[in-house]
Amino acid sequence: MVKRLIDRKPTDGHADPILDAPRPIVVPVPPATISQRKSEHLDIVLSGQASAYATTTGFEKVRFEHCALPELDLDGIRLSTRFLGREIAAPFLISSMTGGPAAAERINATIAEAAGATKIAFAVGSQRIALEGKGDYGFSRGLRARAGPVPILANFGAVQLKQWDGPAMALRAVEMIDADGLIIHLNPLQEAIQSGGDRDWSQLLRRIEELVRAVSIPIIVKEVGAGISGSLSLRLRNAGIRIIDVAGAGGTSWAAVEARRSRNAASRQIGEAFRDWGVPTADAIRSVRRHCPEATIIASGGIRDGVDAAKAIRLGADIVGQAAGVLPAAMEGPAHLAEHIEIVIQQLRIACFCTGSADLEQLKTAPLIC
Ligand SMILES: Cc1cc2nc3c(=O)[nH]c(=O)nc-3n(C[C@H](O)[C@H](O)[C@H](O)COP(=O)(O)O)c2cc1C
Repeated sequence: MVKRLIDRKPTDGHADPILDAPRPIVVPVPPATISQRKSEHLDIVLSGQASAYATTTGFEKVRFEHCALPELDLDGIRLSTRFLGREIAAPFLISSMTGGPAAAERINATIAEAAGATKIAFAVGSQRIALEGKGDYGFSRGLRARAGPVPILANFGAVQLKQWDGPAMALRAVEMIDADGLIIHLNPLQEAIQSGGDRDWSQLLRRIEELVRAVSIPIIVKEVGAGISGSLSLRLRNAGIRIIDVAGAGGTSWAAVEARRSRNAASRQIGEAFRDWGVPTADAIRSVRRHCPEATIIASGGIRDGVDAAKAIRLGADIVGQAAGVLPAAMEGPAHLAEHIEIVIQQLRIACFCTGSADLEQLKTAPLIC
């Protein structure tokens, strides 16, 4: 299995630089500390206190020209697409989310089941706790068993590439859940505000590039709500990244979350100043598409519904992701979450219908009035 995933040069009897590498160098943070932090994140997002005050996604400024005579069969509109070599019923991804171990295990199982039932992709939250700790914390192949043949994405933070043997950990993360690709998340703002966050981000692009060269796993780079700019997407492309999740501003604000979590006034004040920081999602999509015309773009960050999803696709996205927006339904269980997803799919279908778009390709060129 390891051989399947790594692009290996012939070893000609010498040591294999990856497989024979020493065990990952891990500087463990006690799992209990990580778990508590993750539980607090989940609680704050669910309490509705994780949003920016003034920054919006920018989708409210995008307006489709309404087509009063679509000449289409609503039920015949084709939303299915391919992602990471697998067919999905609609271009949706449930974005990475993690919580404290108990909640995360339940939420991941719920998400896997609902994604499987509705045939959309899903990403797990950061696997750091499982990669560093002793247990699997619900990151197991049971998720694949629940989800069936939909794309599944593994996840850990880019900054971990400073402490870990990147290729070895990437393989473990993917193998752990039988994923189709690996998300490397960029969260510098959150780390800068979070007490005890990782502050040294030097040389990380080089680590990402080394990882891409060492493994044949598709690597996706994403932000977590402050957006990826066009110029960064170009640097990522030059480092070999072909799939980018813009995760723009206008949805979950991690500055707001960390300010809320903070136990002292000074760090609360530091975090609050950045509550509205970031590249709005609509701007990020446009800019990344302009800089990287051939990239696969995932649009996330404040996606509320299928109309936002339609706008994201019109602006250049291929797949649309939702995190906080699915959380309340995910807490209720797989049936509620599947119902939420079906509603968003139906909204996207109607947006196609009322723009006269028979499929996603046509939606990409549907007329806008602003
Ligand atoms: C509770 C919660 C936990 C999250 N955990 C992770 C994570 O572990 N890894 C990651 O890449 N992103 C994580 N995210 C960020 C989301 O994947 C997403 O990029 C961000 O929340 C913006 O999308 P949204 O506005 O739809 O929430 C998390 C989001 C939430 C709400």
